[in-house]
Amino acid sequence: MTAIGLCGPDSMSRGFFYGCARSHAMSRRRAAELTRYADGLHNLPMLWFKAFHIVFVASWFAGLFYLPRIFVNLVQVPAGSVAEQARLLLMARRLYRFASLLMGVALLLGLVLWLGYGVGMKQGWMHAKLALVLAAIGYHHACGALLKRFERNETPHTERWFRVFNEAAVLIFMAIVVLVVVKPF
Ligand code: HEM
Repeated sequence: MTAIGLCGPDSMSRGFFYGCARSHAMSRRRAAELTRYADGLHNLPMLWFKAFHIVFVASWFAGLFYLPRIFVNLVQVPAGSVAEQARLLLMARRLYRFASLLMGVALLLGLVLWLGYGVGMKQGWMHAKLALVLAAIGYHHACGALLKRFERNETPHTERWFRVFNEAAVLIFMAIVVLVVVKPF
């Protein structure tokens, strides 16, 4: 029978689990497992912030992955296809505005985790992550600047350039996720 079974699922308080771990004379490993579980309950609000941080970050990056795809389509629009160009510009404008909103919430929740709960404070992986977050914010604003140039009827770069630019967002995203999950230093 598991410790949770013995103690009853309705009495999941931190102190109770510590007591359970002792009174049932469990292995040290099992007791450590329970302590971690109890700590998780203790940090429940932090876990909610983290869950929504991940949701908003993923949604923001979905926008950053898709915007350069629209730019590729804009470059491909044949000369004189005014309606198609206007439709793509409208899509890009709306997506950029929505992605900006998502970015704001994602960053705010990240700041709550970092400065509010002190997660990652004075740790190498966090400093590296913050540097990459600055790169992500820069990338977001670069998308805004490119959009403005398309709106002025310019073609800022070639189709190939936008395809390569698109990959930069993927690399930033991958590097940040590896840093926060693996915490290599
Ligand atoms: C101001 C910017 C940001 C700050 C201050 C921040 C801070 C944090 C903190 C303190 C955590 C908790 C880490 C842990 O529990 O070990 C976290 C989790 C996470 N962050 Fe951020 N973050 C920011 C932006 C981002 C961005 C831009 C991304 C993605 C590209 C991102 C992806 C994640 C992921 C995936 C997690 C979950 C890691 C896990 O629990 O395993 N964050 N963030």
